[in-house]
Amino acid sequence: MTKQKTNDQNTLDRRNFLKRATVVSGLVSAPLLSSPLLAQNYSNRKTCKTMELADDFIYLNSGTEGSMPDCVIDDFNNNLKRWASNPTASYETDRHFRKHQHYHREKIARLFSVEKDNICLTDNTTMGMYMVLMGLNFKSTDSIIYTNQEHTAITSPLAMHKEKTGLKLLQRDFPTASKLNRMTSHEVVEYLLPNTKELRGATALCVSHVYPSTGIRLPLKLLRKKADQLSIKYLIVDGAQAFGMIDLSEGDDDIKLSDFYACPGHKWLNGPPGTGILFLKNKSIKPPEFYPTLSQRMEKYSSKNSDFPMAEALQVRGCSNVPGFTSMLTAIDYQNNIGGSKAVEKHIIDLAQTVKEFIYSHSPLSLVSPRLDKSLASGLTVFFPFSWENPNKIFTDKNTANIVVKALLEKNIQIRAIGFNDEVSPNKKIYGLRVSTAIFNNAQQIKQFQQIIKEVLSTLS
Ligand SMILES: Cc1ncc(COP(=O)(O)O)c(C=O)c1O
Repeated sequence: MTKQKTNDQNTLDRRNFLKRATVVSGLVSAPLLSSPLLAQNYSNRKTCKTMELADDFIYLNSGTEGSMPDCVIDDFNNNLKRWASNPTASYETDRHFRKHQHYHREKIARLFSVEKDNICLTDNTTMGMYMVLMGLNFKSTDSIIYTNQEHTAITSPLAMHKEKTGLKLLQRDFPTASKLNRMTSHEVVEYLLPNTKELRGATALCVSHVYPSTGIRLPLKLLRKKADQLSIKYLIVDGAQAFGMIDLSEGDDDIKLSDFYACPGHKWLNGPPGTGILFLKNKSIKPPEFYPTLSQRMEKYSSKNSDFPMAEALQVRGCSNVPGFTSMLTAIDYQNNIGGSKAVEKHIIDLAQTVKEFIYSHSPLSLVSPRLDKSLASGLTVFFPFSWENPNKIFTDKNTANIVVKALLEKNIQIRAIGFNDEVSPNKKIYGLRVSTAIFNNAQQIKQFQQIIKEVLSTLS
């Protein structure tokens, strides 16, 4: 344990030293982006780079947390100073911050071609999911469908409901990892949500857009179609691993295909910590269908005819992270300036595909994430550790996954181990390795990763 700490500290110290050295010598370079348009825009924007990651540190874990580019950090710093220099005005009247975030909500709404009252700013995905799952007026006779791969941002509020009201939770299991990487999106959605009596008429379908465990994306268009076919009232989506990675403005992954969608600003968007967005399709939703659980505006609904917007009721909840929300808009501007969400998605998915092909070409059995159907693809690639010399030898235990992660970190590459339940081992988690390829990563870094992971996997026998 002490040794682990020492190693991590050494790695950090070295990284900080190298970073300082490169900054002093002026050698900080722009990432080599795969898309020519993105690369051109990136290098033209001399004022915004992801500089806090040292040049020799290959950070492949945006699925846990992104890294703010310097324009976002500068903006955040300036916002904090502005706030501290005139606190009351900042809270009450400052036009830059705007009370109750009307301006921020308006700007985010425009991204998705919706209205301000469809958008509430939150601290993170978990907060958004809680606002929805505690806000909807579930009864003991209701049933909610979810899967065996959901994050605790979904399972925790569902467990609370089960305990409080006894409502029915219908867990659906994903196909086992060995089948998943060859399936199409239609096959996966049919497998998860067959047209059975049990699922028909469920109150809610509560799923993730992109799964942190397997990297699988469930296209919103297929989910919407399924929810309608099964007459499910609400499609509630956890978008923690999608916003900032996938274009949510139109097409098969349009946020408007969901009824509620919660996502963060701090992961793939590379915005400040403690920022997130909740989308509510029905801007007129109100009690008794939906209660503003975390709010200072419940009294607005004391009259039956109240049309007070629910998104605003949820927004007014005491002092929020306004400097952070303001800088989240800067992170959005930044993505738009370098090509927009479609170009960002392409860059991220192209890099992920390179990782998938590399792993698959050497050990087809180890790859968990889908490889063939692009509509299932994301920037997360998950695979089990395997022996490089004997690629059919796969490891699914926690210890081996942690050993590989640690060995990579010692070489300045950050990925993570991820545990999940599989159909074949429902009660015992199996562990894979998860690689996140983000906007600030480039093809050269992936080549280095391939070389080092080969060395590390060669030590497994
Ligand atoms: C699918 C999913 N949901 C929710 C979360 C929690 O995100 P947040 O920190 O934004 O609440 C995560 C974090 O990894 C996640 O992967």
